[in-house]
Amino acid sequence: MKETTSKIGLPKSFQLHDLKPDEFITYYFEKEKEIEDELLLSGAVKFHGVQIESIDVFQNIVNSIATKFLSYIDGNSPRTKLTGNVYTSTEYDKTQRITMHNELSYSAKWPGKLFFSCIQPAESGGETLLADSREILSLMDNDLVKEVESKGVMYIRNLHGGKGMGPSWQDTFETESKDQLEEYCKQYNIEYEWKEDNGLRLRQKSKGIVGHRTSGEKVWFNQIDQFHPYQLGEDLYEAMKAIFPTPEDFPSYVTFGNGDVISEELVSEILRVTQKATIAPAWNKNELLIVDNELASHGRNSYTGNRTVLVSMCE
Ligand SMILES: [Fe+2]
Repeated sequence: MKETTSKIGLPKSFQLHDLKPDEFITYYFEKEKEIEDELLLSGAVKFHGVQIESIDVFQNIVNSIATKFLSYIDGNSPRTKLTGNVYTSTEYDKTQRITMHNELSYSAKWPGKLFFSCIQPAESGGETLLADSREILSLMDNDLVKEVESKGVMYIRNLHGGKGMGPSWQDTFETESKDQLEEYCKQYNIEYEWKEDNGLRLRQKSKGIVGHRTSGEKVWFNQIDQFHPYQLGEDLYEAMKAIFPTPEDFPSYVTFGNGDVISEELVSEILRVTQKATIAPAWNKNELLIVDNELASHGRNSYTGNRTVLVSMCE
């Protein structure tokens, strides 16, 4: 893909020299202030030359340098929970590119930081794509920004009860209990509606543009393009329109917060701007990437071969 360089220079690289996990943890705490400042400036930092050979080592490192881990409950991408706080980054079809998103930005609660490491790089492709959310906001059409700010965004999801297209509600919410799921929805102001076939429709309102939790900087923070099936390409989108009675029955769909339609032209504009701000830094082994989830969105390039990228999320 075509690479453009972010104005802000994300991610900032820290070249280390084959540090053992314990040495890295010591280094991290010695430099913590500098690293945090850089993360706030760049939106993402990447450490090269850290011995991360296994899931356990990755878990040990993130457990040491981060606290308040979040689970992936309410997530919309297939992934496997490996150990306590570690997930595979995604198991979505490797021939497809995953569009840019800030993790769980449609949800009432999202992580502040994401930790990634690549245990096995793909044969080709498979980069974790990054884009600066401040840059996306500044490049986005002004009228669209105003509309998102004033109306917010409504995310609609249809989750099946075991068989069907996309993820099930059981996997999404890591539970088999409808009561528990309803409790969660009430707690986070998610409207829910059970269907006759044991499927579930969710409506979730969100701001779409937020102020960063520490700096207050405004950032583009939504998944409009990822939720709108227009991003799947003309053919698939047309096929879906023929299958589902209304757009609200699509596995995922999105409108403005007041129910106004977000046109295909606007989704196209969002995809264009986001693409312009996206960079594709290659993965090597023994790297740790920390992403400020509000300052930077991420995605994944399609790839060939086997690829294992681990992820952990914290508040
Ligand atoms: Fe993600």
